[in-house]
Amino acid sequence: MTRRGAPGAAPAARLRDVTNRWNLPPDFTFGASTASYQIEGAVAEGGRGPSIWDTFCAEEGRIKDGSSGAVACDHYHRYAEDVGLLKDLGVQGYRFSIAWPRIQPEGRGRPNAEGLAFYDRLLDELLAAGIAPMATLYHWDLPQALQDDKGSWLNRETAERFGEYAALCGMRFGDRVQQWVPVNEPNVCGLLGYAIGRFAPGEALVFDAMPAVHHLLLGHGRAVQALRAARATAVGTATNHSPMWPASDADADVAAASMADTIWNHLFGDPILLGSYPEGFAELMPGPVEQDLAAIGAPLDFYGLNFYNPQLVAAPAEGDDLPYAYVDMPGVPTTDFGWPVVPDGFRQCLVGLKQRYPDLPPVYITENGCSYVMGPDADGVVDDQPRIDYLDAHLAAIGDAIAAGVDVRGYYQWSILDNFEWADGYTQRFGLVYVDYETQRRYPKRSYGWYRDTIRAVRGS
Ligand code: NOJ
Repeated sequence: MTRRGAPGAAPAARLRDVTNRWNLPPDFTFGASTASYQIEGAVAEGGRGPSIWDTFCAEEGRIKDGSSGAVACDHYHRYAEDVGLLKDLGVQGYRFSIAWPRIQPEGRGRPNAEGLAFYDRLLDELLAAGIAPMATLYHWDLPQALQDDKGSWLNRETAERFGEYAALCGMRFGDRVQQWVPVNEPNVCGLLGYAIGRFAPGEALVFDAMPAVHHLLLGHGRAVQALRAARATAVGTATNHSPMWPASDADADVAAASMADTIWNHLFGDPILLGSYPEGFAELMPGPVEQDLAAIGAPLDFYGLNFYNPQLVAAPAEGDDLPYAYVDMPGVPTTDFGWPVVPDGFRQCLVGLKQRYPDLPPVYITENGCSYVMGPDADGVVDDQPRIDYLDAHLAAIGDAIAAGVDVRGYYQWSILDNFEWADGYTQRFGLVYVDYETQRRYPKRSYGWYRDTIRAVRGS
């Protein structure tokens, strides 16, 4: 009999099949990821100041289901239960983010003691469970005060404030955090937040968004400097990369795919890993660009990669503001979010990174996962076989990339919990654990049991 909501509800026969068929090394690190605004809730508690996502969610029509992260998974109050889920899962690491508006409610100045205390409690709970913390400093919840007074990342000062906040975190938490990620997906928050306006703060500036891109990257550089000064153990990134495939061999589609590759991938990877911008972009950035690039390109201990899917790219329609368009991939299965499932794109992405950046530091997959929305049956079982298939195939792709010479050291699945999926609200579910938002009850899905057995199979314990 299956206990209601018990971890590992997968049938035994299937679990016996789980061997290390991905050829992952036995010391490979397995983890799971989350982000503050997507899980914490308690937005008006503990002295937290408002963030640009609180404001954005309150604006009519911004979020698909009209929701917000005000309650989310109530992780702020339930963090101990959630660390328990991670412990039972058997992960070695957990990636979470620190909410800047909890630490500095106004985005500057003295830290808020209650905010610090929350992350102290979380870190202590993780260490007691034998789980190594990986902390992201910016997963998009910018203090609203920095938007109101300074125009957020469009203003250089935000990068300087971010460096100060990073220093505070480094000094306070550096004895316990093992890996640091300054800025999560600067391409996603920079381009969706400032070029097309789908994410907070909702600016649709197209190419005039470049100052925000530069300052996010400078923020990364300032945080690396501050964390080094605080003697941080290891500092890296969580950069999103997608292979960009032309929709046809027509010149216009090939050119569009190459432009998409430059803007989405190289505009962020190059400054961080090569200390330079792709041709033609340095001119668009506010200065002093050369000096800033020296900070942005400082050596890292690891390169964190967030990978979800490759994109098929076509020339834009006439009159389009953007220089390329994403189109559907014919004949390829999709997740419930409509994202194509192409595991070999993951191998290609990793191998491509190593080719473009021969000095690539060790890679950690800081996010990978998929949204399938099925919920618990009458026995509390969530049968999410498509997620198992997705994770299985993507781990195999990592094994292939390692065999091809890419030094991948770990994998942080997105996400341990279903959570607030930004502009899509609660309509998407990426979790290994289903969250009933009415009751806040957690139901480990079949994929949770599969992932636990996978970890055991690879690590031999
Ligand atoms: C990447 C983002 O970092 C995360 O916040 C988001 O939920 C996932 N992608 C899925 O879209």
